[in-house]
Amino acid sequence: MDLYEYQARDLFEAHGVPVLAGIVADTPEEVEAAARQLGGVVVVKAQVKTGGRGKAGGVKVAKTPEEAKAAAESILGLDIKGHIVKRVMVAAGANIEEEYYFSVLLDRANRSYLAMCSYEGGMEIEQLAEERPEALAKVEVNPAEGIDEATAREIVRAASFPADLVDSVAPVIVKLYEVFTKEDTTLVEVNPLVKTAEGDIIALDGKISIDENADFRQPGHAGLVDRAAENPLEARAKELDLNYVKLDGQVGIIGNGAGLVMSTLDVVAYAGEQFGGVTPANFLDIGGGASASVMANGLSVILGDEDVKSVFVNVFGGITACDEVANGIVQALEILGDAATKPLVVRLDGNNVEEGREILNNANHPLVTLVGTMDEAAAKAAELAAA
Ligand SMILES: Nc1ncnc2c1ncn2[C@@H]1O[C@H](COP(=O)(O)OP(=O)(O)O)[C@@H](O)[C@H]1O
Ligand SMILES: [Mg+2]
Repeated sequence: MDLYEYQARDLFEAHGVPVLAGIVADTPEEVEAAARQLGGVVVVKAQVKTGGRGKAGGVKVAKTPEEAKAAAESILGLDIKGHIVKRVMVAAGANIEEEYYFSVLLDRANRSYLAMCSYEGGMEIEQLAEERPEALAKVEVNPAEGIDEATAREIVRAASFPADLVDSVAPVIVKLYEVFTKEDTTLVEVNPLVKTAEGDIIALDGKISIDENADFRQPGHAGLVDRAAENPLEARAKELDLNYVKLDGQVGIIGNGAGLVMSTLDVVAYAGEQFGGVTPANFLDIGGGASASVMANGLSVILGDEDVKSVFVNVFGGITACDEVANGIVQALEILGDAATKPLVVRLDGNNVEEGREILNNANHPLVTLVGTMDEAAAKAAELAAA
């Protein structure tokens, strides 16, 4: 999960990274009040989860509260790379003398951490990496050792900072690394890290990606989720602990195992071509040991999707055998009762498949069609969705 700049600013502050005062605001009037409260020159900054806001007109300097209000009027509602600005941060204006770059990230390919640092910040880092790769220092960070003061100095020197800056920049990097690990992130990026005319080093723009796998030990991170921007079906699925992704088709998909579900999406999209371009409505992996209640939860999320016209349940019995899955489907339909309204195409295979099919045949539920193969089931589900 990527954070907004103001959330990154707050986490930086909590870990002692030097930042400027900032107040979030949702209306021009709130922006004016925030600018008055901060006093002096402020910068009104669009809060969207994408970079390049400055270039897109989403970062504006204002010398007075009235100017800040006018800036907010032009920024709120702006479309920045497909993100509509609903909120801004009013930040104290920095007297920038120099702009630098620093980031530390999880380097999956090398199973390590990577720190990147440049004395030439300000410009987009992808561009810098391409045009002047020698200006961007890349230093591998041993995750077991982390970044202490000595390593931070190494990084700063590798980025060719002048010697007199090493003492002031290195401690900020140590603090940023603390944010990186203590907050369980996969990326902490500061662009620009600035030196002000007063000689202070300040993180002026921050980007943080939170590793959601660590949510269990980061209770505070729940508050960082932007509920309003979340798809309501995905939010509901998350509450139920389901692996669900909303897509824009008409065939609801339930399967066990991410690989099987991925290939089910392909097969349904392919079959759908014969039925006017019907496509999958979602990804949902109910996992290996799916019980009746998990099946019921999955079905209820999918049936709650207005776009869904039919549902394809594609299960390969393994640890949880087909007879248990079949019982799960029958019980799920009982639990759902009248809430189950759309036709279900079920394909079972694998462990105890005969028993499973018998259970579904005996239940003889009016909404359920049992189909022998994955391709036939996909075609049937697509046909029902197109009907
Ligand atoms: N608080 C601030 N004070 C002064 N200048 C700022 C401030 N915040 C941003 N800027 C200037 O605006 C530029 C772009 O802002 P930034 O926050 O990096 O947004 P983005 O990276 O999305 O364009 C910065 O490089 C900096 O020059
Ligand atoms: Mg930036």
